[in-house]
This record gives sequence, C-alpha cells and structure tokens, in this order.
Amino acid sequence: MKGVILAAGKGSRLYPVTHHIPKPLLPMANRMTLEYAFDRLKDMGVTEICIVVGENEPLVKAALGDGAKFGVKLSFVRQTEPLGLAHAVGFTKDFVGDDSFVLYLGDAIYGYGFEEHAAKFLESGCANLNIVKPVEDPRRFGVATVDGDRITKLVEKPAEPESNLAMAGMYFFGPQIWSVLPDLKPSGRGEYEITDAIQMLIDRGHDVRAGVYDHVWFDTGTLDSFLETTRFLCGGENRIAEDAVVHGQILDNVVIGAGCTVTCDSIQDSVVLPGTAVHTLGTIHRCILGGNVNESIDLDGAILWG
Ligand code: G1P
Repeated sequence: MKGVILAAGKGSRLYPVTHHIPKPLLPMANRMTLEYAFDRLKDMGVTEICIVVGENEPLVKAALGDGAKFGVKLSFVRQTEPLGLAHAVGFTKDFVGDDSFVLYLGDAIYGYGFEEHAAKFLESGCANLNIVKPVEDPRRFGVATVDGDRITKLVEKPAEPESNLAMAGMYFFGPQIWSVLPDLKPSGRGEYEITDAIQMLIDRGHDVRAGVYDHVWFDTGTLDSFLETTRFLCGGENRIAEDAVVHGQILDNVVIGAGCTVTCDSIQDSVVLPGTAVHTLGTIHRCILGGNVNESIDLDGAILWG
C-alpha cells in the first residue's frame, strides 16, 4: 500500500505566519507538522509517499527532500488549482499505479495508529474504508450513515446530519476510485469533494466501509486547534529550546524554538517559532509568534510575524 498526503492548502487561517513557513512545515511541539503524518503512515508499514503540494512546492520540497531523513521515500506532485480534495487526489494516479493507497489530510494529527484499520481494509478487499469518529457537531464535516460497518450514504457538511459520525481525514482506497473521479462535478462550494467521490462508489455498488477511530484527532488549521494540539503533543510540559533566552515568567503550554530571545512579563499557552525575537512589556497569551515581534502591549490571541 502507498501513501498520499494532501498538503497543498495555503494555511490561510494561520496567516501571516504561514506566509513565511508553509503550513505542512510549521513546527508543532518543535517538529514539522508533516512529520506526524509520516509517523502514522509508517505505523502501517507505508513508506512510499506522494505529497500533493501547491504554491508551497519549492519550500516543502527543499525541507523534506527525498524523505530519507524521516525514514520514508517521498515524491511530490503539484495541484495546479485549489479545487478540492478529490481534485488533488487525481494528480497522484501515476504515483499510485495499480496499488491501493491511504489518503491522509496533511493538517490532521492523530493520537494513535491505524494498523488494525489498514489490516481490515486489505483483508476485506473492499473498494474503500474510511476512518470516522463520533463528534458533537457533525455539520462541519463529511457525515457517514452506516449499516453495521458498511457506509450507505455520505453527505458533505449536512445541515441536518443523519448521524454523528464525521469523516476524520483518513481514507483507504483501492483502484476503483480512479473510475469515478472523471465523472465528478463541483459541489456547492465549487470543489471536487472526496465525499462525493465516495458516494459515487456507493451508488455504483462498490463495497464502502467505515472504521471507527477511538483516539484523539486534531485539525491543526486554526489558532485554537493549533494550541490545543500543542498542549496534547507536549503532554502538559513546556518545551523550551536549550539555547533560547527568556526573560519573563513561563507559565503553562509554552513552546519556544531554537535561537529565540523572548522578553515579556509572562508567557502562557503560546508558541514562539524558531529564530524569533520577541520583546513586549506585557503578557503573551494564546499566541503564535515568528520573526521579530516588538510590542508594548499585552498580546492575547495573536498570530504575528514581525
Ligand atoms: C474535509 C472533508 C470532510 C472531512 C474533513 C476532515 O473538509 O471534505 O469530509 O470531514 O476534511 O477534516 P474541509 O476541511 O475541506 O472543510
């Protein structure tokens, strides 16, 4: 089985930081976001991985290279326009060839592996198995209606969900997927939805299944989720690089990268990216900071690149 990671997004909810560091490379607890994806794929024995990139291509390629230093073998394809997840997958057809593949949304971070789901997918010979997770508000996600472990219906961001099972950003596909992609039409939001592609597999009589995931799953794309994920990854500890110079009180959930200088009254629930200089007379709370930040006020809920 091969791996496909979608990482073409602009990370616009984390601007301006993601103007300077592409979202897939953004350090989370001092490791690049995509390194966590490599871990999850390697758990399943998947090491041949294609990353779908966008405008971020040069920087992502330069940082990841051929993947050898992460124990994986990487190749890259470029999604020419941001037209949705199914559109992005279409660019990986040559890479996947006759093999099956696991699709991983590059923003996602999971607390635990998917080995048993991968085994179930391969043993069952089904066309597609999707990781789902019960959530409180399914309206933000693709939502699966199931009969046992069969998915009978999938709807993208339904106003009135039929179940609480959200599509959790991890999908296993056999070659059947290539037969539906050319027939897909753009959705209401103008995208070729992976959800619609899977519904088409169901409509055409293919065996489509769900695997329920019992562990934590984070989408790291917003300030709130970025900080929440950081808290999880750091296990409640602060991570201060050895060579960082900090003048000020360090409270909880603080990550300060290598080469940083931080001067403040106190810092809490915040990430200072490597090589950053921060000077403020006030407190730093719920921030992501990069570059050279000089402020005289309290910083609360800010994403800044100075
Ligand atoms: C995408 C998928 C959706 C899935 C979600 C998981 O949504 O379209 O079905 O539940 O990822 O994060 P998007 O993030 O593009 O809104």
